[in-house]
Amino acid sequence: MTVSSAPGKVYLFGEHAVVYGEPAVPCAIERRARVTVEERTDSKLRVHAEDLSIDGFTVEYGGDADGRPDVDVAESLVDAAMGYVEAAVDQARDAASRPDAGFDITVESDIPLGAGLGSSAAVTVAGIDAGTRELGVELPAEEVADRAFRAEYEVQEGQASRADTFCSAMGGAVRVEGDDCRSIDAPDLPFVIGFDGGAGDTGKLVAGVRDLREEYGFAADTVEAIGDVVRRGEAVLMDAAEDPDGEHVAELGDLMDFNHGLLEALGVSSRSLDAMVWAARDAGAHGGKLTGAGGGGCIVALDETEESETALEFTPGCEEAFRAELATEGVRVESS
Ligand code: PMV
Repeated sequence: MTVSSAPGKVYLFGEHAVVYGEPAVPCAIERRARVTVEERTDSKLRVHAEDLSIDGFTVEYGGDADGRPDVDVAESLVDAAMGYVEAAVDQARDAASRPDAGFDITVESDIPLGAGLGSSAAVTVAGIDAGTRELGVELPAEEVADRAFRAEYEVQEGQASRADTFCSAMGGAVRVEGDDCRSIDAPDLPFVIGFDGGAGDTGKLVAGVRDLREEYGFAADTVEAIGDVVRRGEAVLMDAAEDPDGEHVAELGDLMDFNHGLLEALGVSSRSLDAMVWAARDAGAHGGKLTGAGGGGCIVALDETEESETALEFTPGCEEAFRAELATEGVRVESS
């Protein structure tokens, strides 16, 4: 039996614009998905999933994993959770050249589903790591990241950047621009997260930005302006890593505010996301923005004090508020 875990992430800067070749800077956070994998003596797949959004349920597949699982929950939830697990299993089988390997799998996650915190990437990354190790193969984190990207790309029908999967596999702060992915230095930023209990439809939101960008030159300029914010932001982040006590965290907050405004102009914020961003700002946060695809889900703010978290707890529309540390470690084996 092998257990691997991988962290979720927040976008410090650059979601949506990253789809059009601009850089983005996601940061891994200490909220993890754990995947337990045990090889079976047959080639069947049995998956038990538990997380914040889904009550525990179990799916059993016959010899051919294509058959519809027999399970008593909404089909969309099964598809959402199972698509990533199946794609991760395919990658593990491929990496170990064991196309017929069968597994019992348990997924546990502290990361809200579809809320901009990279839950699917974390499950995919941890699943590939645990699956390959269970078959006696140890992949470097970069290869886990690459295989996880291919798995997400397939499940999301081409609507995936490398940002989530690379960040989850490597941990820390990363910079992603097209296929170029690298780790960058970052201090432990005072992240505060607000969650509205909902989720956005990533495909729809990405398509909405694409349409706006095609229709209006100023929308294309807005996407480019996000790229400029990211380039400035990554320089400030590096300064902050060298001099954590300086004014850099305050400037990062200002840039997050700017980034949020541009995302709002592109139509991907929502009333609850804006309310949470403003609650954090009013409470004295350095800045705040939505994280991920938007439409609903999470915001991230920077605040060393308790003020933003407390304000978020009393904000109508905010279901949960919590602090999150930068996860310096990416994918890791928990036991084998
Ligand atoms: O909501 P998430 O964590 O899946 O992030 C989506 C980020 C986008 O830039 C909108 C799309 C992508 O694949 O990069």
